[in-house]
Formats: sequence, structure tokens, C-alpha cells
Amino acid sequence: MKKLLIIAAGIAAAAALAGIVALKGGYIDFGADRAPSALETRLAMAALDASLERRSEGLKNPLQADEKTLKAGAEVYLNHCAGCHGLPYNPDSQFGRSFNPPVPQFFTEAPDMTDAQNFYVTLHGVRWTGMPSWSKTLGETEIWQVVTFLANTEKLPPAAAKVIAKP
Ligand code: HEC
Repeated sequence: MKKLLIIAAGIAAAAALAGIVALKGGYIDFGADRAPSALETRLAMAALDASLERRSEGLKNPLQADEKTLKAGAEVYLNHCAGCHGLPYNPDSQFGRSFNPPVPQFFTEAPDMTDAQNFYVTLHGVRWTGMPSWSKTLGETEIWQVVTFLANTEKLPPAAAKVIAKP
């Protein structure tokens, strides 16, 4: 038993040392044109999902998904989000593909998180990705408007669809 513990501690110490050498020795490539390792992606995504679930608890969308809100949300989206997250006539933006993790393209795959989670992500952003925090640029009402818009991209009233249509 004692021998096993010593071996386990030795393996843990060697793994920690290898990690430090990789980090401090400059062996990790931080280029945005390099995909992260499968391990990094898995760990980071699971941690982000768990964090969003915990932190968005209790947030409730105060707005109705009516034409006025959806039109206002479409305007916020067009002015602040579309360059990265795409538009119906440019659903797979090359710019969005230039990030790692890549920017989710909302007109290729509609966002599937809750309004509360989308609000939290938009207000605070996601560290170590290209998703900025909008807390200093947009008011909370504008964020709820764009969140309501995101939940309804597949059933927009004409006034809102017109805002994001090809000029
Ligand atoms: C500079 C590019 C950029 C801009 C501008 C941007 N985003 Fe993002 N956004 C990202 C990236 C990158 C991610 C992916 C983060 C990740 O993988 O965790 C993301 C993720 C998100 C997500 C989470 C989606 C999901 O399913 O995981 C939401 C919601 C979101 N953005 C909303 C917005 C809104 C609303 C705006 C405008 C107010 C906006 N974003 C502007 C880059 C951007």
C-alpha cells in the first residue's frame, strides 16, 4: 500500500513538472488560428456550462417578445453583435471563424441557452474568448431586448426582420 502511494505521488509530481515546463517554456501556442486541445475544450466547456447555470439562476426576462421589443433587439444586434455572430444573408461570417473558440453563428444554429444564461453571457462576456462584456456599452434593457431577439430569430415579425435584412 505504502509503495503504491509513493508511486502515485511520483506520477503526480512528474505530471505537474511536465505541465510547468510546457507552460513556462513557451510550448503552448496561444494563436487564435490554432484550435485548443480536446482536453482544454472539454474542461473549459464543462466549467463554463456549470458556471452559467449557477450564476444565471434567478434572472428573469422582464420583457414581452412583442414587435417593439424584437425590433429594438434587432437594432442592438445589428449594431453590436452581427459582425461576429452573423446575419441571415451572411450566416457563416469569416470573421467569426477567425476566433478560437469560434464565434457561434446564430443564423446557422439558433442559440439554445435560456434567456437568463444569454443575458448573463452578454452582460459579463466570456474571459479568454472573443466574447466581450457589454456591461459598459449597453444598458440592461438593451441586453434583455437583444436576448429576446436571440430567442426568436426563427419567428421574427416583419418590422424586426427588416432591420437585419440585406440593405
Ligand atoms: C468580437 C466578436 C463578438 C462580438 C462583437 C459579440 N460576440 Fe458573442 N460571442 C463571441 C464568442 C467568441 C463567443 C463564444 C464564447 C465561448 O465559446 O464560450 C460568443 C458567445 C456568445 C453567446 C453564447 C452562445 C452560446 O451558445 O454559447 C451569446 C449569447 C452571445 N455571444 C451574445 C452576444 C451578443 C448579444 C452580442 C452583441 C451585444 C455579442 N455576442 C457580440 C464573440 C462575439
